[in-house]
Formats: sequence, structure tokens, C-alpha cells
Amino acid sequence: MRWNARAYDSSFGYVSAHGAPLVELLDPQPGERVLDLGCGTGVLTADIASRGASVLGIDGSQAMIETAIAQHPGLDFTVGDGYDFTVAQPYDAVFSNAALHWMSRDPEAVIACVRMALRPGGRFVAELGGAGNCAALTSALLTAWREYGLAEPELPWYFPTPAQYALRLEKGGFVVRLLEYFDRPTPLDECPNGAADWVRMFAGALLDRVPPATVEPLLRRVNELAAPALRRESGWMADYVRLRFAAVRH
Ligand SMILES: C[S@@+](CC[C@H](N)C(=O)[O-])C[C@H]1O[C@@H](n2cnc3c(N)ncnc32)[C@H](O)[C@@H]1O
Repeated sequence: MRWNARAYDSSFGYVSAHGAPLVELLDPQPGERVLDLGCGTGVLTADIASRGASVLGIDGSQAMIETAIAQHPGLDFTVGDGYDFTVAQPYDAVFSNAALHWMSRDPEAVIACVRMALRPGGRFVAELGGAGNCAALTSALLTAWREYGLAEPELPWYFPTPAQYALRLEKGGFVVRLLEYFDRPTPLDECPNGAADWVRMFAGALLDRVPPATVEPLLRRVNELAAPALRRESGWMADYVRLRFAAVRH
């Protein structure tokens, strides 16, 4: 997945803006070592650092990391893969906002890397999309693809139920201390083209396989299909569902 870091910050800043309660749950302490997994452009990494913690942001996207370094010159960022990263010295906490559901290929490998990155007693505090996340958006997408005779796209996300993810955490060597599963309807205030803008940002890789002349009408159809569920008088509202947890390494 190629990320457009500029569009991410300008139109989808709500992702990190909604991360503030997760930073509160992490409750970073001065001097603590924290790793921010899938840090994106580093907005929450900087928030954690502002509490006095020493933070490393890692992300699989070179574009995201370049933007993070440019926007937060005093902080440490590096390109790294959530499925396969190691650290020289263990961390007190691993934090992750809106990134784990992108690591859909092998969630167990991600949890194993997080465990290895933590000291015993270290905490894993994260939020990801939960089962049913963006269901109306993805259903509109799949229907539009079908109507246009396109091959059914493989969606890139993993949206587990609370029970599924808790089991993975326990099997992966963590004690789950808190697990919340909640709807978070999210205004797409900076997305004048509503669901179509969301698809371009988060499912852009699927559009690469669509004939160029079909992209615009296809996205218009996504909007028509999604509108009854997601379009309000005040604007578009995405049907986000979140899974937020705090777990401790054995
Ligand atoms: C929606 S963004 C969230 C960014 C940031 N945490 C925030 O709250 O704004 C998801 C991030 O996960 C990163 N990501 C996806 N798969 C990854 C992987 N396998 N390893 C590391 N980062 C990954 C993406 O590059 C992207 O920056």
C-alpha cells in the first residue's frame, strides 16, 4: 500500500485526532521508552514525546516516515515492518493507533514482534478497527465493483472481534487488562467527495487494478450506494468501529 502522506494529514487528520484518548490510556511517563508502531506522520508520536517519554516511531511507509521526520525534527523515526522488527533494547510500552488492522497478513507475527520489543511487564496499548468497521463503506465498494464487472477485490484490512483479538493476545504472551469495542461514527469533514475520498485514501491500491476510464464512474457509484447509510444533512459520516486495548507482557 502506497500512502499519500500529504492527503493523509490534510483530509484524514481525524485518524490521529481520535488517538488522544489512547495516549491517555498509555499514560506515558517521563523517561519511559515507548515505541509507536505504524506511527504514520508522527502526530501521536510527538504527543507521547511531549509527556517526556523517549519515543521511536516506526512505519512501513517511506513517505510517512519522511513526512514524520520533516514535521518533528527532534524525534526518532525509522522505516520498519510490523511483521518483522527487532529492537536493540527493550521498551516499556508499545503504542499503536489505527495501524494494526493494516497488518492483516499475519497478526500473530505482529504480536510476537511487539512481545519481543517489550520488557517483561511492559504494556501494549493500541486501537484498531474492530469487526464491522466501515461495513457500509466496504459494502458500497464491493457492490460497485461487482456492478462494474470487476473482479472481487481483496480488502487489505483485518477487523477482529474482541474475543478473537483477546485470544491472540493471550496466546501471544500478554495479559489483557482492558478491551473496549465501540462504534465511533466519524465525520468526513475534509472529504467533499465523501465515500469516494475515503476509498481513494484507504483503498487506493484497489483502484490501481481498475481501468482508468472506469475509476470516476465507479467512485460515483460507491457514493450513491453509500449515501443512504452515511450521508447526513451535515455531511458524510463514516461508520467506524474500534477495538481499544491495554495488555501487559508476561
Ligand atoms: C491509518 S495510518 C495510522 C498512522 C498513525 N498511527 C496515526 O494515528 O495517524 C496506518 C499506518 O500503518 C502503517 N502500516 C501498515 N502496515 C504496516 C506494517 N506492516 N508495518 C509498519 N507499518 C505499517 C501505514 O504505513 C500507515 O502509516
